[in-house]
Amino acid sequence: MRRLLDEREKARLGGGEKRIAAQHAKGKLTARERIELLLDEGSFEEYDMFVTHRTTDFGLDQQLFLSDGVVTGRGTIDGRLVFIFSQDFTVFGGSLSETYAQKICKIMDQAMKVGAPVIGINDSGGARIQEGVRSLAGYADIFQRNILASGVVPQISAIFGPCAGGAVYSPALTDFVIMADKTSYMFVTGPKVAKTVTGETITDEDLGGATVHATKSGVAHFVAQDEKEGILLIRKILTYLPQNNLEEPQTTDCDDPIDRLEDALNTIIPENPNIPYDVKDIIHAVVDYGEFMEIQRQYARNIVIGFAKFNGMPVGLVANQPNYLAGCLDIDASRKAARFVRFCDAYNIPIVTLVDVPGFLPGSAQEYGGIIIHGAKLLYAYGEATVPKITVILRKAYGGAYDVMSSKHLRGDVNYAWPAAEIAVMGPRGAIEVLYSKDLKKIEDPEERAKFIAEKEKEYREKFANPYEAAKYGYIDDVIEPRNTRFRIIRALQTLSTKKDRNPLKKHSTMPL
Ligand code: HXC
Repeated sequence: MRRLLDEREKARLGGGEKRIAAQHAKGKLTARERIELLLDEGSFEEYDMFVTHRTTDFGLDQQLFLSDGVVTGRGTIDGRLVFIFSQDFTVFGGSLSETYAQKICKIMDQAMKVGAPVIGINDSGGARIQEGVRSLAGYADIFQRNILASGVVPQISAIFGPCAGGAVYSPALTDFVIMADKTSYMFVTGPKVAKTVTGETITDEDLGGATVHATKSGVAHFVAQDEKEGILLIRKILTYLPQNNLEEPQTTDCDDPIDRLEDALNTIIPENPNIPYDVKDIIHAVVDYGEFMEIQRQYARNIVIGFAKFNGMPVGLVANQPNYLAGCLDIDASRKAARFVRFCDAYNIPIVTLVDVPGFLPGSAQEYGGIIIHGAKLLYAYGEATVPKITVILRKAYGGAYDVMSSKHLRGDVNYAWPAAEIAVMGPRGAIEVLYSKDLKKIEDPEERAKFIAEKEKEYREKFANPYEAAKYGYIDDVIEPRNTRFRIIRALQTLSTKKDRNPLKKHSTMPL
């Protein structure tokens, strides 16, 4: 018994008090402190505390640390089972050894068998240099499990320190990446290699800090001000998710009235269709208690994605944002939303889509960057999804973007439009330029020309820029009063709660990656 207590005590010290102090001095918590904060009090059961590495080279046989640089086990969050690994920077800089990888694989295998989420807290110098290829093998063993677990159990990664080299690919394969501001970074090759190979001089922060991944690369789904906030975010994400792909997300009690009328919505859309507004005002007005957990807030701001609840039922929300790039779909927005739609579909989370999209962003930058293939991702994701899909067209739904944004034609279950909706092949101005190009060439006087365009625009608007043409064909199920949107969405979700739909059997798709 004495020995057990002593050994446990030793393991809990990780790399020792000096290194723990150094970790704290950097504003970072230790691997065990992070677990303690994350899990329900007293729920953590540690696995493999007595594991050590097996390397003898470089005098490593003289440096054995119980747990070997990663703390693993299981516990609960809000009473629900989760598996966790937390890398311990105080032991060999959290670097990954063969036995360390085996510990992670063990909890991932068990999580898959019992159907529970896996949470990984990353803080590591990468492959343990002294272990050579065995460390690389260990990484690949983890990657393989990340891949098999994808779409089976939710996987969440927190980056609370360095995460460099091939090590970045484990978090990248998971569903959500949370980075702590200023104390974490992720890159495939660091500043030193960048300097040698390309001559570029850049800092860790500028190359792979949280801000970079939140705004430029889209790798980070959330940036936390500090680790404590990051840990709260993990707990919050889980409230919207089921334990695994065979379960439904948990519905919670809700006393926000389902028939709450939001009069302000009746006038929220500006009279002038070229004036923007903030779609998040609409989201906050219709969801339970105005609570919306936005994902990738600073990336591709022309599309908004995130979780919310309707009468206690979790949903994934996707909305074009007229306030940014007029809500156009571009490469980044398409990738961002496509990935989210596929995540929701994998975990039985209904998708609510709010549409105000003037089309795809034009220009060579987008075409050269492959908007065709990236736009197709979003189209594919919506068309593939079999979860309940509810769409509300708030204003514009033009061209291909109309089809893409969860239209009836992509198996949209319930498709509503607000009275201000404009559903057509293209916007009035563009349409007039095409339809009347010959007439326009003949009119030289600018005033006369402007008058002609205005007249024709008016005609076009009356004919097409309304929801009734689409409703006539049944592409829109109903035109609804904006203030009643919350109620109509909840009713639709209730109706669709027993929805069953499936895709043809196949090994897997050949989606446009
Ligand atoms: C073994 C390592 C280590 C590693 C750090 N340490 N990284 N030991 N293998 N990869 C040890 C250090 O020797 C030191 O030990 C302790 O961890 C803390 O490291 P410091 O350098 O003192 O800390 P700090 O100044 O905070 O710098 C952290 C760091 C730096 C930026 C992570 O240590 C670093 O650059 N490490 C090497 C990173 C790297 O190149 N890894 C391989 C990448 S390639 P003591 O005993 O002094 O406490 C890779 C491939 C993965 O990972 C492929 C997957 C497919």
